[in-house]
Amino acid sequence: MQKIRPSTTKQEIICAEIQAPPAALVVFGASGDLVRRKLFPSIFELTERGLLNERFYLLGCSRKKLSDNDFRQIAQEAMMTDAAGGMSEPSKLFLNNLYYISGDYNDEQFYHRIKKRLMELDKAHKVEGNRIFYLAVPPLLYTTIIDRLGRASLSCGSGIDFENRPKLVVEKPFGSSLETAVELNRKIHECFDESQIYRIDHYLGKETVQNILMFRFANAIFEPIWNRNYIDHIQITIAESLGGEHRASYYDKAGALRDMFQNHVLGMLSLVAMEPPTSFDADHIRNEKVKLLQSIRPLEISPYKSDIIRGQYTQGTINGAGVCGYRAEPGIAKDSKTETFVATKMFIDNWRWKGVPFYLRTGKRLATKLTEIAITFKKVPHFMFASVELDDMPANVLVLKIQPNEGISLSFQAKRPGSKACIGTLNMDFNYADVFDAELPEAYQRLLLDCMVGDQTLFTRQDDVQLSWKLMTPVLKAWQGADSAPYEYPAGSESFDQADSLIESDGRYWRRLFPK
Ligand code: BG6
Repeated sequence: MQKIRPSTTKQEIICAEIQAPPAALVVFGASGDLVRRKLFPSIFELTERGLLNERFYLLGCSRKKLSDNDFRQIAQEAMMTDAAGGMSEPSKLFLNNLYYISGDYNDEQFYHRIKKRLMELDKAHKVEGNRIFYLAVPPLLYTTIIDRLGRASLSCGSGIDFENRPKLVVEKPFGSSLETAVELNRKIHECFDESQIYRIDHYLGKETVQNILMFRFANAIFEPIWNRNYIDHIQITIAESLGGEHRASYYDKAGALRDMFQNHVLGMLSLVAMEPPTSFDADHIRNEKVKLLQSIRPLEISPYKSDIIRGQYTQGTINGAGVCGYRAEPGIAKDSKTETFVATKMFIDNWRWKGVPFYLRTGKRLATKLTEIAITFKKVPHFMFASVELDDMPANVLVLKIQPNEGISLSFQAKRPGSKACIGTLNMDFNYADVFDAELPEAYQRLLLDCMVGDQTLFTRQDDVQLSWKLMTPVLKAWQGADSAPYEYPAGSESFDQADSLIESDGRYWRRLFPK
């Protein structure tokens, strides 16, 4: 018989991160908030971890007039916020690889100046063609910038080396409806091929979200029971305690359905429910995600029966502190009907999932921050321990704890010390923090690295993004036309009546945000 032994060396090799190749990252919107909060700290961490190539450089582009030195100063401040105990030598040296150029996004000359600067910098840093254009600007500017990049022949590279054509990173929101997403894709494709486009959904870069595929397909014991024969229902929750957070002008137009549901929630649903891909290859995985989205039953939404409900937070208390209602947030219209909470029941019409409800919810200003996927299995068919009624026995629940307290937990019934028939629920818990020394890296580090090496696995493909909008657009239209407003819930709540009814009418309950 063949012996199975752990091959530590091989695993160590697989786990070792490989340094990114030389690259030029050109960031539009470089003086903005996203760059300060996410990109600079991630690039700083990649430098610390030795994963950024010494020949990497970043050219910031924006309307604001700044010198290279001003820009480096901003970067240093952003990095210092993250670096306990000051900046390390590699990070200090890295600051010299930051450059800045200002101009008007509409002006074609601006792109010719960018091109000239890139040619000089490529030469100085010996970067040969691995160029990434990153759109960290408001979505309104996407098509202008893309069009001007195309006109300045910046989207096609040298034209000889197909592999080395420039990449385009697009932040969310990618469109605001099916129509706008299709139009945006059409515009981008006038200048960039799909193989050059990296649409960011930062949830896909989280370690725990990436783990969903590993967990399902690198273990033999879960896949055979991962279907309608064994699973009663699945709940996906993304709860936030934060509110609008000074993004009123964006959020009040977007709302929870566009901001969180169409992308992050549906992204996690695809990973948890899709069929096994043939390999860990970008297109094999993305094909399966798309097939899954195609199998989601369109949501019913009418005044009499709705598979989806919306809420908006009012004044309340979180962690003992009073917080204002959504409509009282700065910049929000006093009669805003924007939803800050969405809950839905979905069905996936295929052989694996027919009849299994997926309950999904996301909301702001809830009692706590928690993202999890909970898989509730069916109960045992017959209960032989007379001390307890079958109905009173909890089902086994497998929880993928996405954040915080990242890990996995499985509840099961077991004999408790005591009388002969003493039985109770126990939890088997795995927490990343207990097992791995290092903190989990911020999602943007993974996404930036993957983009530099040209791996599109964790980025959303055109058909994926359009399908998710196709599912959500009828809901948005129904809400837009409705006289009704979202239900109200006090900030700091775990849930509210109408959200509860959605699941309780099926004889099931939302999981508590705080464990009992
Ligand atoms: C962003 C949304 O995509 O995700 C924000 O625009 C939200 O509204 C954020 O707060 C949540 O991300 P995370 O990683 O903190 O769960």
